[in-house]
Amino acid sequence: MQAKIVTLPGDGIGPDIVAEAVRVMQQVAQQYGHTFTFEEAMMGGCAIDATGNPLPDETIAACESADAVLLGAVGGPQWSDPTAAVRPEQGLLKLRHHFDLFANLRPVKAYPALAQYAPLRAELLADVDILFVRELTSGIYFGPRQEQGNGTEAHDTMYYNVEQVERVARVAFEAAQKRGGKLTSIDKANVLASMRLWRRVVTDVATDYPDVTLEHILVDAAAMYLMKYPSDFDVVVAGNMFGDILSDETSILAGSLGMLPSASLNAGTFGVYEPIHGSAPDIAGKGIANPIATILSAALLLRHSLHLETEAQTIENAVNATLEQGARTVDIAADPAAALSTTAFTDQVLAQLK
Ligand code: IPM
Ligand code: MG
Repeated sequence: MQAKIVTLPGDGIGPDIVAEAVRVMQQVAQQYGHTFTFEEAMMGGCAIDATGNPLPDETIAACESADAVLLGAVGGPQWSDPTAAVRPEQGLLKLRHHFDLFANLRPVKAYPALAQYAPLRAELLADVDILFVRELTSGIYFGPRQEQGNGTEAHDTMYYNVEQVERVARVAFEAAQKRGGKLTSIDKANVLASMRLWRRVVTDVATDYPDVTLEHILVDAAAMYLMKYPSDFDVVVAGNMFGDILSDETSILAGSLGMLPSASLNAGTFGVYEPIHGSAPDIAGKGIANPIATILSAALLLRHSLHLETEAQTIENAVNATLEQGARTVDIAADPAAALSTTAFTDQVLAQLK
């Protein structure tokens, strides 16, 4: 097949890790007889520096012409002044909104080989395999907001309507049908009206999926259960902010934030794929960043936007085999002196792909 992929390396370690994921996709294309063309565009702090805009129109146009987008990370200390009028994160939010990427999939697996890096006891981690489905284009991130009274007051509004909850709930129920048949919906229905609507709509949608067991958990309790009984969870659906917070919390189970990929999808096949970690400016350009989250994001890209399931699994298996063989980047290395560089680690993945 032919596909066009736009890369948005962004800031910090973004360019390092995106380059490695591109190498992996190129080799997969070669092995399976596909033609992937790559076009790079600017987003984030580097785009602010070059154009004043974290998501320039040319970048949007490039993404519109693509089948899928692979993103590195955005942000860094030089752009994080809270009083600044433009910030790198605005580019990310605008991208999600522009392409209506309402369903954010964040799979979390515990790797037995890395259990020693997770702060939880190894026996709690056995069989952890969770899929977060985070609503990504509404909620408090996009509700009405205002700063008032000359800097003495501000408000953000958690807004949801029936259609917004229904469509993300359907994505979550369908994923649960294909996985373990269980869906946990997170809310704060005991306090927030928007979250009572959330619970009501998810419950209504459940009647279309009688083969899925639905449970509702309040977000505060969920934060505790996810650490106490992580292997009880299958698919978890949450609103934008709760999903943001809980997915970072849950990354603890994987041993390193550097392991976790994500897919942000609209109602069609278009998606933006990115590691859930940030731009790690402290290690940018040092060649030591862990490329796994981005390589696994490329696997999600092949699966969800290009429907290349076999190729996606080949990448995931190659990453597993590389870890089992003992290859490590420094964030997951018992012996930092023996850790591989970003490129050397990816070389091992490429060797496993063959
Ligand atoms: C994420 C990030 C973003 C979010 C930030 C960078 C705007 O934390 O993708 O989880 O809050 O959604
Ligand atoms: Mg986050």
